[in-house]
Amino acid sequence: MVTDIQTQPQTEPKMRARDVSVFYGAKKAIDEVSIDIHTEHVTAFIGPSGCGKSTFLRTLNRMNDTIASARVDGAIELDGDDIYRSGMDVVQLRARVGMVFQKPNPFPKSIYENIAYGPRIHGLADNKADLDATVEQSLRRAGLWDEVKDRLNDAGTALSGGQQQRLCIARAIAVQPEVILMDEPCSALDPIATARIEELIDDLRGRYAIVIVTHSMQQAARVSQRTAFFHLGSLVEYGQTADIFTNPREERTKDYITGRYG
Ligand SMILES: Nc1ncnc2c1ncn2[C@@H]1O[C@H](COP(=O)(O)OP(=O)(O)OP(=O)(O)O)[C@@H](O)[C@H]1O
Ligand SMILES: [Mg+2]
Repeated sequence: MVTDIQTQPQTEPKMRARDVSVFYGAKKAIDEVSIDIHTEHVTAFIGPSGCGKSTFLRTLNRMNDTIASARVDGAIELDGDDIYRSGMDVVQLRARVGMVFQKPNPFPKSIYENIAYGPRIHGLADNKADLDATVEQSLRRAGLWDEVKDRLNDAGTALSGGQQQRLCIARAIAVQPEVILMDEPCSALDPIATARIEELIDDLRGRYAIVIVTHSMQQAARVSQRTAFFHLGSLVEYGQTADIFTNPREERTKDYITGRYG
């Protein structure tokens, strides 16, 4: 378990959520959650199924906008800028706050095009050589380059599940995000592919704020520095991962981490 950080990070939070509630129609799925997300940290969201982890994660890059019945109250800031303000460029926001899903979802395109697509539409490459370099660097950072460098024109979907997930991480990285949201990124993977992704998350931590939803307590303990425990739509407890797992303040946290429910 990594414990090499102070209880309160000294820097300004990368993202700040204040009194965030989310409704699906009349049903409240998230109840006044306030949390700070820090760069150079992995923050784990844990809690029983249906407690709102994915719902809250999606508020951080406005993915809930795509769900017609969803309504978000409260405030979420990225570097102090309200991401729900009118005029916010949501496409640009989702490049800055990227997302990796539970099931790897490469585009039905080549490995190269999966990575090149984002930088191209965001105007991040001046020419072909530039784009090639971005593709290579993104795949290198995602720990996939050596495995795919001779087959960049193969379909992304032709890769193994673990490779596809690293491809999706490379795709997120390619548009120079500041925050990466991951919703159970390893749940469709075998233990070896999972270990690779966990190593990768640890490598990437130095550059980004990473938020990972996980059902695995072991995974949260291995990869995160801070852990947030959600229950029934509320944020029950948030703190250093080591504290949450060894010395939780709340009874409900203790019950969850000792396997009494979930
Ligand atoms: N699109 C939706 N429309 C209506 N209700 C939804 C929608 N998505 C989620 N919910 C409800 O919101 C609540 C929180 O769901 P959410 O998917 O955020 O939980 P979760 O903690 O991610 O669960 P899991 O661990 O099973 O993925 C649940 O009661 C769920 O049924
Ligand atoms: Mg979920």
